[in-house]
Amino acid sequence: MKLFLDTANLKEIEQAVAWGVIDGVTTNPTLVAKEGKDFKQLLAEICRLVPGPVSAEVIATSTVEMVREAEELASIAPQVVIKVPMTPNGLQAVVALREKGIRCNVTLVFSFNQALLAAKAGAAYLSPFLGRLDDLGYSGVGLVAEICGIFRQYALKSEVIAASIRHPLHVVEVARAGAQIATLPFGVLSQMFKHPLTDLGIERFLADWSRANQNNK
Ligand code: E4P
Repeated sequence: MKLFLDTANLKEIEQAVAWGVIDGVTTNPTLVAKEGKDFKQLLAEICRLVPGPVSAEVIATSTVEMVREAEELASIAPQVVIKVPMTPNGLQAVVALREKGIRCNVTLVFSFNQALLAAKAGAAYLSPFLGRLDDLGYSGVGLVAEICGIFRQYALKSEVIAASIRHPLHVVEVARAGAQIATLPFGVLSQMFKHPLTDLGIERFLADWSRANQNNK
């Protein structure tokens, strides 16, 4: 299973890369806007830090404009993946971009049928948004399990990026559901390190070590 970091913040990306635990990055217009930097420059810097795929989203709504924007973004670095919204125009853009050798991540997927259409159009990745479904009282994990199960049955090739992850239990559940990738906010990634028994274990080992050293003096 791959872990992506869901952020456009360079410090967070640098830290997660240094930990050696992330395989790629996803961004979206909200995350980029938070950084207050020029999008293309920021994307270039992110790509310098990350060895794997980096998703960058188009803002346009027409197919022609999406393709134009996508070509500009894709020219920044070979690992750029274009995030395209789950609309008829978006899927038409996926087809055009696939023919040009540009990979797409279809975003804002909230149903199995949307996932199926994205896969049929040739999306390299598709992103069901768990947390936002949970917020409305629907099961985000249930959707990921449904997509992964049926995709396996028909050997559909798009990789599922479980997105809008809100807590570490989501990570466990989407792993169980068979998602190839989970994209995590930095806070959730940091929480994954933690266990009280690990902290307690370190504390005890250090205390025993220093007691033994005192006695040996
Ligand atoms: C995914 O690619 C999106 O950037 C992200 O996961 C959205 O998460 P949110 O619902 O917490 O905004």
